[in-house]
Amino acid sequence: MSFSKLANSIGASVTLKLNSEAARMRAAGDPVIHLGGGEPKSLAPGAAIAAGISMLKTGEIRYTPAAGTPAMRDAIIAYTEKFYGRKVERTNVMASAGAKQAIMVALLALVDPGDEVVFPVPYWVSYPDMTRLAGGVPVPVPAADSSFQPTLDEMTAAITSRTRVVLLNSPNNPSGKVFDGDWLRGLVRYCEERDINVMMDDIYHRLDFDGRKAVHCYDCTDRSVDDAKLVVLNGVSKQYAMTGFRIGWAVGPQDLIKAMANIQSHQSGGPCSLSQAAAVAAIEGAQGSVGELRKVLERARDELMNLLGEIPGLKADTPEGTFYCFADFRAFDTDSTRLAARLLEKVQVVTVPGIEFGMEGFLRLSYCGPLEDVREGARRIKWLLDENGGPELRAGEKVFTR
Ligand SMILES: Cc1ncc(COP(=O)(O)O)c(C=O)c1O
Repeated sequence: MSFSKLANSIGASVTLKLNSEAARMRAAGDPVIHLGGGEPKSLAPGAAIAAGISMLKTGEIRYTPAAGTPAMRDAIIAYTEKFYGRKVERTNVMASAGAKQAIMVALLALVDPGDEVVFPVPYWVSYPDMTRLAGGVPVPVPAADSSFQPTLDEMTAAITSRTRVVLLNSPNNPSGKVFDGDWLRGLVRYCEERDINVMMDDIYHRLDFDGRKAVHCYDCTDRSVDDAKLVVLNGVSKQYAMTGFRIGWAVGPQDLIKAMANIQSHQSGGPCSLSQAAAVAAIEGAQGSVGELRKVLERARDELMNLLGEIPGLKADTPEGTFYCFADFRAFDTDSTRLAARLLEKVQVVTVPGIEFGMEGFLRLSYCGPLEDVREGARRIKWLLDENGGPELRAGEKVFTR
């Protein structure tokens, strides 16, 4: 068969491909350690499960409005007021099948062919392909000093008359960085003055560490939600460990939300009604699980940083949020795809090559899995990279050959 130019220009999401590969290797009996994933392993909040079950029992599992049920939109309104201090109306919010769909639909609503979408490097793997799917041109902006946040001057230098959207993600996947407040204020103001839309991907919201309170885009503008050219994307996947429910949302000016809901109405319709009921319960119920998850992640981050610190030549900034560490392996191999393949083949550790996020020589290591896997993964990486032999493998373990 022959395919459209669009289909031919898009590859599968690398992280999803790695998940399948890890599952295939595990099924074949390989002792795989998966440091490539992007989902917390804790269970969804009990209230969310109960709400899903009780709705399922009614048998009334129907289509919902394209923008989500009234209860779902009210929950998003309550969330926005509680966590961002902004009062919004139902017309300002829309639920989607994950933040992924909310981001995609926002791009479809904003971007014309040839419009530029500017985002900092390193970026989430999907941004370039999502931009292309919307007909736009991705403009990744690297930091000259290889830090994980280009300067304001570097960002603004990339903005042209074709720039339609600046797309940000903080806390950031893959770097674990929380963007600096003054930087964000400056960037939002710069975009406001030039009528450029800011899309804030906030899917790691509330997963910032060490008591830090990330400055949010809404802190950076005096305009009302309807007047600000700002759309915030969020969801239940990460903070509530509800990845499989596929519920995300967008908050923004009502004309944009209307355009997005129109697009979504033809694309997929409203998100799964059961999942919306579960998401409402998660948002409106006790919030203790979010704090617990944050604590678990902080602990895993600390362990990982200590273990990586024992590998001479490896450099890693301490993540300020999320559950990823973007570690600098340039002392060992500047080709991240080759290094990730070597780690998978030789010691069965799944990592994600930095080049997929726009930075060569780095690997993204996830620490959202069991602590034991984080420790074992770091131990195997050390063993493989350690020219002097490294620690002995434990009895009964598969013997890897360097
Ligand atoms: C930066 C970023 N944005 C969006 C998403 C998508 O989240 P969701 O599961 O809500 O579609 C992810 C998932 O990994 C992500 O890392």
